Amino acid sequence: MRLPDRVTICEVGPRDGFQIEREFIPTETKIEVVDLLAEAGVPRIEVTSFVHPRVVPQLRDAEAVMAGIRRRPGTRYAALVPNDKGAARAVDAGVDVIHTVVSASESHNLANVNMTIADSLEKLRAVMQIAARAGVPVAAGISTSFGCPFEGDVPVDRLETVVGRLVDMGARSIGLADTTGMANPRQVASVLERLLPRLPGVEWTLHTHDTRAMAIPNILAAMECGVTHFDASIGGLGGCPFAPGASGNVCTEDLVHALHAMGIATGIDLDRLVAVSRRVEQAVGRTLPGQVMKAGPWSRRYPAPDHVAARLAAATGS
Ligand code: COA
Ligand code: ZN
Repeated sequence: MRLPDRVTICEVGPRDGFQIEREFIPTETKIEVVDLLAEAGVPRIEVTSFVHPRVVPQLRDAEAVMAGIRRRPGTRYAALVPNDKGAARAVDAGVDVIHTVVSASESHNLANVNMTIADSLEKLRAVMQIAARAGVPVAAGISTSFGCPFEGDVPVDRLETVVGRLVDMGARSIGLADTTGMANPRQVASVLERLLPRLPGVEWTLHTHDTRAMAIPNILAAMECGVTHFDASIGGLGGCPFAPGASGNVCTEDLVHALHAMGIATGIDLDRLVAVSRRVEQAVGRTLPGQVMKAGPWSRRYPAPDHVAARLAAATGS
């Protein structure tokens, strides 16, 4: 396999994860989780989103969360914004990078941000201007890049058009999002093999949801195509409230575990990350999908039962 030596993980649990939680998570808990993630060595964190508080009430405390976190040197703190109003709020709150959102399918964009794709792209042009004036970089994410829960297949031509528009507007970082876990590894590879050579100089991120247990296979396919940036959610939290059937992102600690097992560096301390995941389970009051937190890492060993140990000793003469 052609795998990279190192990848960069962006933790999106505090945004993509928390946004679907019904019970309001206290602002101090959100701040604590973001700080714990940074201390575990997570290099990039999507802290919150600056969207309409009526639409995503869970994240109505975006300003307070941004103001309350302890900025760890070297950690990049981002927030998601859908429009110019969100961008202005994010800049005022002091984000290091703005993550934008538009869908590759018309119906998901309407459901998610109440705009046509064309209207969204106009808003995102304004976002880029606000960001440029403030000297804040923009990373542009594209929802439903690999399929739409309303429309089904999203033609790659359509995806390429949206990506191309964002790159023309100045985006140098593009995130392809599999919003409801519809992508498969062969599809991921074929989309990337088409887009990467056509848009040189772009930093590509794959944003996966593990709705159908294909997230890590899709990440493997993307790594083989040269992608080294991946979004993930602590514990496997996550899901778009405006996409039926959506469920959690690829679980951060499961992904980090898989990468480390293959000798791929992330700079993240897995034990500390698992501890954060347990804290998040407590905060949301339910068991999360993360598997390594239940099974322990691959290096975990159990003592052999006495009768097995005795037979082994007899057989090996030790
Ligand atoms: N933050 C706070 N308020 C906002 C806002 C933002 N980013 N964008 C718009 N508003 C306010 C406007 O100021 C206006 O307020 P007013 O009624 O007091 O004048 C009001 O919302 C309506 O503005 P409009 O542009 O018509 O927005 P809308 O009602 O069509 O909603 C979005 C559009 C994009 C703001 C809304 O759909 C949204 O926040 N979507 C985010 C969805 C999301 O987070 N999905 C999950 C992540 S992928
Ligand atoms: Zn998502």
